[in-house]
Amino acid sequence: MVRNFWSYFCRGRRKKFYSLLLLFLVLLNAMFYVSFLLYTTIQKRNKKAWHERLQFDQDSYVDNSGMRVVVGHYVGGNSGGNLSDDTINSNNYAPISGAGEGGRPVQLSPREVITARELYPLHSYNILVSDRISINRSLPDMRSESCRNVQYDIENLPTATVIIVFHNEAWSTLMRTLMSVLLRSPEVLLKQIILVDDASERKYLGKELENAIVNLGKVQILRSANRTGLVGARLMGARAATGNVLVFLDAHCEVTQGWLEPLLDRAGSDDVFICPHIDLLSDDTLAYTKSIDAHWGAFSWRLHFRWLMPSKEVMLTKTENPSKPYPTPAMAGGLFAVRKSLFWRLGGYDENMTIWGAENLELSWRAWQCGARVEITPCSRVGHIFRRHSPYKYPGGVAKVLNSNLARAASVWMDEWADFFFKFNPSIAAIRDQQSVAARIELRKNLQCKSFKWYLDNVWPQHFFPADDRWFGRIRNEKGSCLGVVSGTPGLGGPAAGVGCGGDLDVERLLVYTPDGRIMADEGLCLQQGNGRAVWKSCNDSKKQIWNQKGPRLKTQDGLCLTQLISDSKDGINDPLTAKRCVNDNGQIWHFERVPWR
Ligand SMILES: *[C@@H]1O[C@H](CO)[C@@H](O)[C@H](O)[C@H]1NC(C)=O
Ligand SMILES: *[C@@H]1O[C@H](CO)[C@@H](O)[C@H](O)[C@H]1NC(C)=O
Ligand SMILES: *[C@@H]1O[C@H](CO)[C@@H](O)[C@H](O)[C@H]1NC(C)=O
Ligand SMILES: *[C@@H]1O[C@H](CO)[C@@H](O)[C@H](O)[C@H]1NC(C)=O
Ligand SMILES: *[C@@H]1O[C@H](CO)[C@@H](O)[C@H](O)[C@H]1NC(C)=O
Repeated sequence: MVRNFWSYFCRGRRKKFYSLLLLFLVLLNAMFYVSFLLYTTIQKRNKKAWHERLQFDQDSYVDNSGMRVVVGHYVGGNSGGNLSDDTINSNNYAPISGAGEGGRPVQLSPREVITARELYPLHSYNILVSDRISINRSLPDMRSESCRNVQYDIENLPTATVIIVFHNEAWSTLMRTLMSVLLRSPEVLLKQIILVDDASERKYLGKELENAIVNLGKVQILRSANRTGLVGARLMGARAATGNVLVFLDAHCEVTQGWLEPLLDRAGSDDVFICPHIDLLSDDTLAYTKSIDAHWGAFSWRLHFRWLMPSKEVMLTKTENPSKPYPTPAMAGGLFAVRKSLFWRLGGYDENMTIWGAENLELSWRAWQCGARVEITPCSRVGHIFRRHSPYKYPGGVAKVLNSNLARAASVWMDEWADFFFKFNPSIAAIRDQQSVAARIELRKNLQCKSFKWYLDNVWPQHFFPADDRWFGRIRNEKGSCLGVVSGTPGLGGPAAGVGCGGDLDVERLLVYTPDGRIMADEGLCLQQGNGRAVWKSCNDSKKQIWNQKGPRLKTQDGLCLTQLISDSKDGINDPLTAKRCVNDNGQIWHFERVPWR
C-alpha cells in the first residue's frame, strides 16, 4: 500500500514536482519551528526576574526595552522644563469609562503620545494616562491561592493609621492611592488616613484637595510649611496617628484586595517592620503587573538599595509555606507597617535626614540590630509606580542631600564597615564630620543594639562585603590585566574579561575571595565557569562559582585553570577569561594583592 502510494507520486516530472513540494513543506515547517523557538526564548528573556534586571547599575537598571530605570524615586530630576504655570497647576483628571479597569494598560493614540512625552517630566510617569483612569478603578486580586485561604481574626487585629506623604503629586495618582485604600480596607481596621503635604506648590493640592476629601470621612490633611522631606513629613503623620499600627505608603500606589489584613496580623506582634509585596504599576500605561515572588532587599558597597535573590532557607520556606512572611535584610522604604509603640520605642526616624534617601537602610539596620525584624509578607500586594528619575527638586543639590543621609546612617550603624564605606567614597567621608549624630549614637547605646558584624553574620550571611574572615584585594594576572567587572556594562550575566588594574581606591577593581573559593564583586556578582567563557553571575550555591587556589593557579571543581586569553593587546585587557586545561601559560598565573578594606 505504502509503496504503491509512493510509486504513484514518484514518477518522472511528477516525482520532481512532489519532491520539491515535500522539501518546501519541510522547510516551511522548520521555519515555523525556528521562529517559535526564537519567540519562546525572547519571551523567556523578557520574563527574566525583575530583581535580576534591577541590580545592574548604581542608580538604575536597564529594562527589557533598553531603558534605564532609576530605582530610588527622589533621585535626580527636573520639574518639567518649559511647561507653563497653567499646565503645571491644572488638574486634568477626566476619567474615561472602562479605561485601565482590572489593572489593564491604557494606550494612547500617536498624537496623544507626543503630548504625554511633553508632560512626562512633570511627574516622571504618564499623566495623560493617569488622568483617564478612574480613581476608583478595579484591580485583579493578586494574591496566591494559599494567601486567599488564610483566615484572619479581623475583630482582634490592631487598627491602622495609613500615612501618605506627598510633594507635588499628580491629582489622579494621589487620589487613586487614597481611594484604593478606602475601597479595599475593612472598615473596622482602618482608623484613619493622614495625608501629609510636604510643602507642595501645585494649586490643585490646596483647597481643591481639601474639598475632595471632606466627605470621605477618616481622611485628614496635615501640611508642612517648609519642605522637610520624607522623614520629617512621615514623623508629622506618625505624631498625629491614633491607630495601633502605622502604615506608610508612597503617594503613587494602588493597594489590592486583602492588602491590609496580613500587614496588621504581623505588625500586631510588636517586634517587626512588615512590608507588602511590591508589584509594578507601569509608568507608561499604568498597567498592574505582578513582580516576581523571589526577591528580598539588600544594598551594594555604595549603599544603594538592591533587590536580590533571597537565601536558600527563605526560598525553601516560600515553597513549603507560600503565605508566610519572610525576613529581608533591608526594606525599600516606600511601603511598610509597624506597630506605633515599636516605631517610637526604636527611635522613629533620624529627624536630621532631609528630603529622601538612606532612611530605609537606617531603619532596616536599626530594626535588626536593636532586636526587631524586617519582613515581607507575600499576601499583601501593593502596586507602585517605579519612576525612571525623580521629578523633585533637592534643596542644596541631590548629592549633598543623599550623601549627608548616607553619612549619618553609616556612621551610626555600620561600625568597621562604615570605615570601608568612607574609605572608598572620599566625597562622602569629607562631609562626615558635619553631621551631628551624637543623639543617634546615644539611642543605639540606650537600646543596647547589636553590632553590624552581628547583622551581616546573622541576617545576611550571603552578603558580598569584605570581612575579616575573607580576603579582599586585586587579583592580577601575570600578563598585566586584573579580574574585575568591565565598567559601563551590565555586570550580571556579562562575559568576564580582563580589566585595567587601577589603584587601591578603585573599588570596581577590588574583589572578595571567600574561604570556600568564591570570587565576589560588588552587586553580588560571582565569577562563574560558563560554556567557553567565564561570566559574572548572581552568587549562588553553584559549584561552577568555586575557584580553588592551587599555588598561583585558580582551579575549577573539574580541575580546569582560570585563564586570561590574550589577543593583540598582550596585557589581556578586554580579552576573554575562560576555564581550560592547565598548561604552562602565564595567562593561568594569578597574583593576589591584598588591599586593606578599612
Ligand atoms: C524649551 O523650549 C525650547 C523652545 O521652545 C525647546 O527647544 C527646548 O527643548 C525646551 N526644553 C525643555 C526642557 O523642554
Ligand atoms: C469613587 O468612589 C467614591 C466612594 O464610593 C464615590 O463617592 C465617588 O463618586 C467615586 N468616584 C468616581 C470618579 O467614580
Ligand atoms: C519655613 O519657611 C518660612 C517662610 O517660608 C521661613 O520664614 C522659616 O524660617 C522656615 N522655617 C524653617 C524651620 O526652615
Ligand atoms: C539634629 O541636628 C541638631 C543640630 O545639628 C542637633 O542638635 C540634634 O541633636 C540632631 N538630632 C539628632 C536626632 O541627631
Ligand atoms: C545558580 O545560578 C545559575 C544561573 O546563574 C543557575 O543556572 C543554577 O541553577 C543556580 N544554581 C543553584 C544551585 O541555585
